[in-house]
Amino acid sequence: MKDSAAVIEYGVPIDPRIMVEPPDPSALELESGHPGLGDAGYVQRRKTLFAQCRRHRLERLGPPLIDYTAEETRIWRDVNSKLDELHRQHACSIYLQAKNALGISATEIPQLRTLSQRLESETRMHLVPAEGPLAYRTFYSYIAERGFPVTQFIRHGSHPEFTPEPDMIHDCLGHVPPLMNQDYAEVLTLIGKAANTTLDPLQVLALKRFSWFSIEFGLIEEAGELKVFGAGILSSTGEIPFSLSNDVKRQPFVTDTVIETDYDPSRMQDHLFIIPSYTFLRREIESLVRRFGIAVL
Ligand SMILES: [Fe+2]
Repeated sequence: MKDSAAVIEYGVPIDPRIMVEPPDPSALELESGHPGLGDAGYVQRRKTLFAQCRRHRLERLGPPLIDYTAEETRIWRDVNSKLDELHRQHACSIYLQAKNALGISATEIPQLRTLSQRLESETRMHLVPAEGPLAYRTFYSYIAERGFPVTQFIRHGSHPEFTPEPDMIHDCLGHVPPLMNQDYAEVLTLIGKAANTTLDPLQVLALKRFSWFSIEFGLIEEAGELKVFGAGILSSTGEIPFSLSNDVKRQPFVTDTVIETDYDPSRMQDHLFIIPSYTFLRREIESLVRRFGIAVL
């Protein structure tokens, strides 16, 4: 990345220290316009889960068992059935195989504890309970230890197709299945170790963009066909067809271009990158980390 005093993220200059010393809010914050804000029952449920999951994260207790309500189960079923159909058409084969192998139920919300045990035996990854969105460096500090932070709350029922923050549907149906793949697990762990080790804000930002355009919003070419593997796309009924439409600029995944590309997480993603394989992604992150001189390999 260019050596510059200004760190630009989401189109605006930010305090570079935030990249290496991220905030860790201890109370639930729902952004203005959140669909659940006027619903006292929903806000209370979110507060309860926030406290429970935060305690389990900080005390390293593993995912708590959650007793999901009928409304939460209804939303899970509704979104799951719509996504499942889109996945069968557009998700990459590694994702589809893993989703099947994990046996993620279409009718009951899975317990993270069970999924975590399965991942542990497959790729030595495990799941860490997250009370809500964690700052990038905090998030990847867990991944450095092969723990993937996953939320346990469900979006508000008034807009099942939309969530302003990553919820359990995004995490479980987007992020968890690829963790069954060894190359993918190693890519993540290396990003985590690098992000957790470097003290250079620009390097953290570069790693964040690398993650965004692969782990969150990556496309993959498979037997001459364009498929989806990014969790942000796979967990959205809108983003899946949009990502493959003519409204999106798609380029081959060139790491030097990716780490210089800013994005706006608050809207549909109209600039995406295509990888040829997970093995390619693993080689790319290894060479980036080496080039940055971060001593984690
Ligand atoms: Fe995500």
